[in-house]
Amino acid sequence: MFYYFIRKIIFLIEPEVAHKLILKYLYSQHIQKIINFFLQPLPKKKIKCMGLIFDNVLGTAAGLDKNGEYIDVISKLGFSFIELGTVTPIAQIGNPKPRLFRLIHMEGIINRMGFNNLGVDNLIKNIKKSDFKGIIGINIGKNKDTSIQNAINDYLICIEKTYCYASYIAVNISSPNTTNLRNLQYGTMFDQLLMHIKKKQTEMCRKYSKYVPIAIKISPDLSTTEIIHISKKLIEYKIDAVIATNTTIDYSLIDNKKNNQKQNGGISGLPLQKKSTEIIHILSKILKNKIPIIGVGGINSVDSAQEKIQAGATLIQMYSGLIFHGPAIIRKIIRKV
Ligand SMILES: Cc1cc2nc3c(=O)[nH]c(=O)nc-3n(C[C@H](O)[C@H](O)[C@H](O)COP(=O)(O)O)c2cc1C
Repeated sequence: MFYYFIRKIIFLIEPEVAHKLILKYLYSQHIQKIINFFLQPLPKKKIKCMGLIFDNVLGTAAGLDKNGEYIDVISKLGFSFIELGTVTPIAQIGNPKPRLFRLIHMEGIINRMGFNNLGVDNLIKNIKKSDFKGIIGINIGKNKDTSIQNAINDYLICIEKTYCYASYIAVNISSPNTTNLRNLQYGTMFDQLLMHIKKKQTEMCRKYSKYVPIAIKISPDLSTTEIIHISKKLIEYKIDAVIATNTTIDYSLIDNKKNNQKQNGGISGLPLQKKSTEIIHILSKILKNKIPIIGVGGINSVDSAQEKIQAGATLIQMYSGLIFHGPAIIRKIIRKV
């Protein structure tokens, strides 16, 4: 209830500013003490996925903490894992602002952030500084200025640098806000990408005597034929998990009468909910438990979380639902799912 009250104020603030303010506010020592005082321990519902043991099904989706600046505070909210990033080899500023828009009446978000991040080295520094000992996923991408032909190299650089600090690595080839990035999901480019990242994983595993699973994050805007092809390749290359899905560019999911709905970018939150669940459903039928699915897209309640699991997800993640329902939704989902 309290969150719905302060949400009225939060929604008066420009979305990107509000995002930073809230995370910084939660970070203050004073607030952390209050959080610690009120939080009841959560039941542990251990889940094995990608060879890792998770305390519960729910994690953060990429984009919430791109640079790993808020790991300690986010970990206290109840999530069993935190996916940081997307990070790129070199820091970049992303697209011009404004680039984040709320669709308040339909619980949606449109973003065209464009991988704004401080670079992979900075992320590692922040991970080293944090006290969190739980599961950290590191989501990696390519720099805007790297051509799509050279994109694989950016992913390999990021794998090499993050390997020792990640519990798993998520390869993001599905953001709609980096030109041509989604082309990596198709044809020979996809084959080449999988082959090279698998080779790099084997090389790093030998070097550090540690196996770090790799997940591929896909778009919700794929056809069934494309999902079938991707699934077969994931099995062929022994990829450890698939994250479904990123944001959608299917603007038919939102009516376009209001100003923010005319913005370009990826749509997340409630408008994406059904579409991402359908993708999980299709993936699950093809993968037949050979590769676990991490379900994400529009989770905003216990029911919507359960729907993702029923569709075939082993783990779930959320981002936009937090903006509309506040941190209390995390504990509700963890208790009931
Ligand atoms: C503001 C914003 C930034 C995002 N940044 C990233 C990102 O950097 N990398 C990524 O893989 N996904 C990113 N996403 C997509 C989310 O991780 C998630 O896949 C998507 O929003 C669907 O989940 P949701 O409906 O719970 O938000 C971003 C989403 C939002 C709203």
